[in-house]
Parts: sequence; C-alpha cells; structure tokens
Amino acid sequence: MENRPQWGTRAGFILAAVGSAVGLGNIWRFPAVAYENGGGAFFFPYLFALLTAGIPLLIMEFTIGHKYRGSAPLSYARLNKKFEWLGWWQVAVSFVISTYYAVIIAWAMSFAVFSFNLKWGDDPSGFLFGSYLKLAETPGQVGGIVPGVFIPLILVWVITLGVLFKGVKKGIEVANKIFIPALVILFLVIVVRALTLDGAAQGLDAFFKPDWSKIADGKVWVAAYGQIFFSLSIAFAIMVTYSSYLPKKKTDLTNNAFITGFANSGFELLAGIGVFAALGFMANQAGVPVNEVVTAGVGLAFVVFPQIINEFPALNGFFGSLFFICLVLAGLSSLISIVETFVAGVQDKFKVSRTKAVAVGGGLSALISILFATKGGLYFLDAADYFINQFGVALAGLVSVVLVAWGSRELKNLQSHADSISDIKLGAWWRICLGFITPAVLGYMMVQNIITNIK
Ligand code: PHE
Ligand code: NA
Repeated sequence: MENRPQWGTRAGFILAAVGSAVGLGNIWRFPAVAYENGGGAFFFPYLFALLTAGIPLLIMEFTIGHKYRGSAPLSYARLNKKFEWLGWWQVAVSFVISTYYAVIIAWAMSFAVFSFNLKWGDDPSGFLFGSYLKLAETPGQVGGIVPGVFIPLILVWVITLGVLFKGVKKGIEVANKIFIPALVILFLVIVVRALTLDGAAQGLDAFFKPDWSKIADGKVWVAAYGQIFFSLSIAFAIMVTYSSYLPKKKTDLTNNAFITGFANSGFELLAGIGVFAALGFMANQAGVPVNEVVTAGVGLAFVVFPQIINEFPALNGFFGSLFFICLVLAGLSSLISIVETFVAGVQDKFKVSRTKAVAVGGGLSALISILFATKGGLYFLDAADYFINQFGVALAGLVSVVLVAWGSRELKNLQSHADSISDIKLGAWWRICLGFITPAVLGYMMVQNIITNIK
C-alpha cells in the first residue's frame, strides 16, 4: 500500500519544512509583534514558547506524520478514530489562509516590478491605496477586480499549482531547494545594507530596548505563543503532511525539528534587525523618534518600506525590488505548503489522483482569492487574518496537544516511535512540555485574555 510519494533527500525535507515556516510572518509580523510586546523583554516569553511548545509540538507533528503516513485528517484518524475532525479543522484553517496569503504575494510581485524604477513616484501610499492597487479607503467601497493585482495573482497560482502538479520530490522539493537559498542570500544583502544606513543603531535600540512591565501581561504571552505557532506553521496540518513523505526507515525526526525551529527563529531575528535598522534610518531622515514610524502588517511592507526605499542614498530601485522579491520567495514556499495540506487531505480521503486534487482544491482557493483582489479586498483580508489569529492559531495548537496528550494518551507511543529512529532521544521533558506546561500556560493565558476582553 505504500506508494506514497517521498522526499529525495533529508535536506530536501528540511528545506521544505523551513520553506513553509519562513514566510511573510517572519518578515513583517515578527518585528512588529516583538516591538509591541515589550521589545527585548519579549524574547523571554518568545524563547519559552519556542522551547516548551514550538519545538516539542513540531516533534509531535513530525512524528505523527511519519508514524501514521497520511495527510493530517488521515494521520489523526489513524492515531485515534475520533480525531479525524481535528485534521480537517487544521486543513480548513489552512484553506482560509491560502486564499489571502496568495493575494499578498501578488502585491509583493507587482511591487517588485514597480519599485525597480520607482514607478510609484514620491507617494507610495497613493500607489497602494490610490492609483495602482486601488484599494478602497473604507470597507464600504467594495468594487471590481483590480488589474494590477489580478495579473500577478494568476502568476502566483500558476507557479504554486505548477509546483504541486509536479509532486513532492520533483515539485515541492525542487522549488524549495531554489527558493530558500536564494531567499537567504538576497535577504542578507538587504540586512547588511540596512545596517550601514544612518540611524540604524537607533532603530535597533528601539527594537531591543526591553519593557519589563510587559512580561507579566497575559496578552504578551498569548502573542508569543501565537507568533511561534503561526511562524512555525504548527497546527496547520502542514508539518504532519510533509513528514508523511519521509522514508519509513531511519530519519532523525527530533533533530529535524530542532533545525527547523532554530532556522525559522534565526530568520525572524534577522528580519527584525533588518526591518528596524531600516526604520531607524527612516526616523533619522524625518527627524522623529523611531516609534513614530513603526507600523505593523500590510502597512509596514507596502507603505513604509516603499517610503524607506524612496529615501535610499543609492540604488533605490535595486534594493526595493530585492525586498519585494524576498517577500515573494518567502511567501511562495509557504503558500505551496499550505495548499499541499488540502491537496493531500483530499487525495487520501477520496482516493483521487494528485492532478485532480490540485486542480479542485487549489483551483477553489484560487477562485476565492480573487475576492481579495478587489477594491475592498484589504478589508476582507484584514478581517480574515484577524479571525485566524484570534481564534485559529493558539487555540488549534492547544486543542491538538490536549487531544494527543490526554484525549488519546499517545505521547508515550509517539515518543518511542521518534526515539526508535532519531539520534537525539526525547526525555520525559518532552511529555512534560506537551502534557503539562503547554496546556497549562496556554489555557491559563487564553482564559485570562477572555476575561480581560469581557471586562
Ligand atoms: N509560517 C508562515 C509564516 O511565517 C505562515 C504560514 C502559516 C504558513 C500557516 C503556512 C501555514 O509566514
Ligand atoms: Na515563520
């Protein structure tokens, strides 16, 4: 029965996992989240969440995929007959994310082209909200499809579905072997340039300055867990799916999880340094404190960065394009992994060919994504993103550990499976992290959060 596709090499699997993890979340989400949640002080909850929840959960998902050899719904069903829905829930969240993630990559694509000779002129925000992307300024102004987004969006889907049609080894693995090394090299060029700009040091100061008062705030801890889960693509059905394509025999699951976790956080830190060095430069040019130029999310990448690029001392177009090309590469490798979760889920469930599953699953997501390529798209996008982050990410992670650790009491068996093929052996700490620490911290924080929200 084992005619499941397989990765060609271990490096191929690791690059694909890192490719999924390193995404838009690293480049524009992490720097802003860290800054807003205590700067240097945020690293404590962040590292705590990485070491006690992120990496242990990654090990759990890798082990489940490898042991049960299926997409998330199938693997969870094999773990416990009652758990198939958990896999489908994760697939559904991934599906929603894919519909807007694709649109953001499409924006980045057009910005990569247009920043090359600064076609947005002196007013990049006009470019975004006015003439070019024609995004509405208020939610009410829903309008037609915006050509400047629509064409790159088609390209995004052609690449993504093209890679998925080619399969695991010839498609996903090959794409990541190209995208990820390219991303790292290009991004390093940007960071080095940013660090040598006037004002970079003030930017870094603002980023790393610890605000210790935040450390007792439950919201900050939830933000740290949310960032870790989103950033490591945990509880999105992805890592289970990817590890189900590992060869059955020896492969160091535990070590793979550590490499993926540290590579992702390393890239995140690099992005934080690069982004804040650039913000420091911008503040310096404008003669204002750094906190006045910090923005999060879409605004950071598509409004503030173009402004920074405009003010660059030299080679503006080159660095502008480079930045947006990095967003495209990071985004595509994540989008491929998101779409693969439902391709694999549909294939396992309905026993259809990969080609059909990609055409139907990917095609549906592509169609829905057109909704976000319209005038009011930014508002749908914000709403979808907010919804996913508030209700999807940390909660899905919490539910999956509680079900595996307590609902099925499978942790011990998973541990012996991982230990039987990994050089690093999991001690009792792994079960303590997943069975006690993560549910306790996350559960407590979420309840506390709900209570303060109600008040
Ligand atoms: N981990 C990706 C990032 O940091 C985002 C992502 C989330 C990818 C969920 C897949 C699934 O941007
Ligand atoms: Na990430």
